[in-house]
Amino acid sequence: MKGVVFTEFLEFIEEKFGFDISDDMIEKSQTSTGGVFTQAGNYPFNDMVNLVKTLSDITQIPFNQLVEAYGEHLFKRLINIYPKPVSIYTNTFDFVSNLENVVHPEVKKLYSDTDLPTFLDPIINENILSIIYISNKPLMDFAKGLIQGCALYYNETIKVEYQILETTPKFKAKFLITKS
Ligand code: HEM
Repeated sequence: MKGVVFTEFLEFIEEKFGFDISDDMIEKSQTSTGGVFTQAGNYPFNDMVNLVKTLSDITQIPFNQLVEAYGEHLFKRLINIYPKPVSIYTNTFDFVSNLENVVHPEVKKLYSDTDLPTFLDPIINENILSIIYISNKPLMDFAKGLIQGCALYYNETIKVEYQILETTPKFKAKFLITKS
């Protein structure tokens, strides 16, 4: 998993819960680097799972809720670091429908070593966008948070739901995004 996902996570946790909790989380988590991450590095996904599990133990906030909140926060940080994708689109449905063809391929150009999810078959039907998520990692709640962060950016009110379709050989889920 890309270093930027770790460095932004640590900043988010410090901002949201303060230095002591962030420090405690790093101290108590088993990570491959002892808690040191750089933006351009690449680290085992399990390092992130361990950090979030520890934080969940410390704060008593469910794992999935933490992952979703982080995704929601990360959207605005990602487009700050890589502004190109948002300059092309004007709303959440357009942005999310083009993740596969434009947004994530731009990320791939920057870093060849990314393990990105696949977003297939976007269908817009009036105020509902349905799209299929496929990944090696069960990051549905992270995707949900990122989509919510995208809607906040475009000042839109949406509801995101997903249904898990498969867990092997990959994680596959159907997302429904409803605009109100
Ligand atoms: C609604 C918007 C977005 C959604 C739903 C989304 C979804 C995701 C998800 C779910 C992952 C985790 C990996 C996985 O599931 O396999 C991911 C990884 C990533 N995404 Fe996106 N993304 C969005 C926007 C963006 C934007 C705007 C950027 C930057 C321009 C970006 C860059 C990345 C990067 C760098 C990773 C890490 C890849 C790795 O660890 O190798 N994403 N994205």
